[in-house]
Amino acid sequence: MNENEIELSKKNAAERAVEENVQKNMVLGIGSGSTVVYAVSKIAEMNKTENLNLKCIPTSFQSRQLILENGLELVSLHQYPEIDLDIDGADEIDKKLNVIKGGGGCLVQEKIIASNSKEFVIIVDFRKESEKLGEKWNKGIPIEIIPIAHMPLSKKMSKLGGKPILRLAKAKLGPLITDNGNFILDVDFGTIENPSVLNEKLRAFPGVVDTGLFIGLVSKVYIGQKDGSVIVLKK
Ligand code: A5P
Repeated sequence: MNENEIELSKKNAAERAVEENVQKNMVLGIGSGSTVVYAVSKIAEMNKTENLNLKCIPTSFQSRQLILENGLELVSLHQYPEIDLDIDGADEIDKKLNVIKGGGGCLVQEKIIASNSKEFVIIVDFRKESEKLGEKWNKGIPIEIIPIAHMPLSKKMSKLGGKPILRLAKAKLGPLITDNGNFILDVDFGTIENPSVLNEKLRAFPGVVDTGLFIGLVSKVYIGQKDGSVIVLKK
């Protein structure tokens, strides 16, 4: 796959989503990941040239840094519990606009922000679109868990038909620790026939904080194509 094509499609999707959805005086949710980087620099550019008076709420440590580095106003969910628009990336998207998120390990804060936003806009490149979730994203559903529940939860996930793997840190021995001090289990369920039912089953296990299945939350998706165009899907 051509890296330039991928980066250009991410940038095009991000910029178009920002141009079409960001308006003056909005409270914005700022997602996490590599595609969001393009969105934040476009937001910062528009905020400066058009004097938009935007307030930005982060979904992770990374996104907090992005907001600050781009000179945007950082605010919290405590101050602004109702968000106008949340822009975020995704790992996979299905035909019903359900998504898998959490490849970057930030799913819990991402879901809190998304579920408290009037509009939730997803920006992705052409590799992320599938008929059904689990078709292309084969690293498993990211599930944030309370550390002491790691072993029993792994067993329960296996009984449900999943293959759980504890996500490990990159430059430290042992598990990755999320922004919330938890672990992540990546659980491969293959192609998922009913993501809503699976999500509810997973969330019902004590020790599960939340899953990377975002069901019924997305309002619009911007998908960057190889030829430079952007396809927009709406709920
Ligand atoms: C972070 O935890 C994720 O949910 C990201 O939003 C998702 O992995 C998309 O990231 P990229 O834009 O880097 O593909």
